[in-house]
Amino acid sequence: MISVNHLVMRLAAGGRAITILDGISLEIPHKQMVAIVGPSGSGKSTLLGLIAGLDKPTSGSILLDGVEITALAESDMARYRRQHIGYIFQSFHLIPTLTALENAAVPLELNGDSKARERAAELLVSVGLGDRLGHYPVQLSGGEQQRVAVARAFSCRPPILLADEPTGNLDSATGRQVIDLLLNLNRDQGSTLVLVTHDPVLASYAERIVTLRDGRIESDTPVKDQS
Ligand SMILES: Nc1ncnc2c1ncn2[C@@H]1O[C@H](COP(=O)(O)OP(=O)(O)OP(=O)(O)O)[C@@H](O)[C@H]1O
Ligand SMILES: [Mg+2]
Repeated sequence: MISVNHLVMRLAAGGRAITILDGISLEIPHKQMVAIVGPSGSGKSTLLGLIAGLDKPTSGSILLDGVEITALAESDMARYRRQHIGYIFQSFHLIPTLTALENAAVPLELNGDSKARERAAELLVSVGLGDRLGHYPVQLSGGEQQRVAVARAFSCRPPILLADEPTGNLDSATGRQVIDLLLNLNRDQGSTLVLVTHDPVLASYAERIVTLRDGRIESDTPVKDQS
């Protein structure tokens, strides 16, 4: 369960304080797939980053399965994130000097998994990249890089998976592959999946759509048609 309580984020920009999130409260049960949508600048990435503990809010709290992550020290947060959260960035964020296999193995190695390479290879096979294990990011297409990023995010089987516009940099056919992959992994591994998207096709696969506007929740609606 993700529990976001009265979250406020204010930042100073150009000499004045701006309110980026203005009192967000949200509960997301286990295994739910939620899409966060809204206009550019409405606070979607900021909210996702706070749920990942990448930043601290001005006020309010976030609890992940009862752990108040907003109260954790940075080092504890880093450890918690490694074990519980997978994060997929719009721009992939692969390490350029590591191969696909090495990139996918990073979280496993950080968690001290002795079978890191084997597990990473299995995951890459499952995302259709079995013949790209030794390729460096520059030798991969955008869709292939994003699939490596998805494999990496799932490598430790995190209960919570966060994705910020995972199809934003992909053409529609490649985006479709990444969507299918996320949905399958969400279903097979039973992870909670929160994704930010501008893509109505991707949002339509969610069980629930939360719309932000000016740092507030404008609407929060279940998606009825799950065909
Ligand atoms: N470090 C920062 N300092 C000041 N303002 C910031 C900072 N980060 C984000 N903002 C501002 O906060 C607002 C929300 O940003 P955010 O990235 O969360 O929006 P978003 O909904 O993800 O937009 P997009 O759809 O364009 O990605 C924007 O107006 C942005 O300019
Ligand atoms: Mg954003």
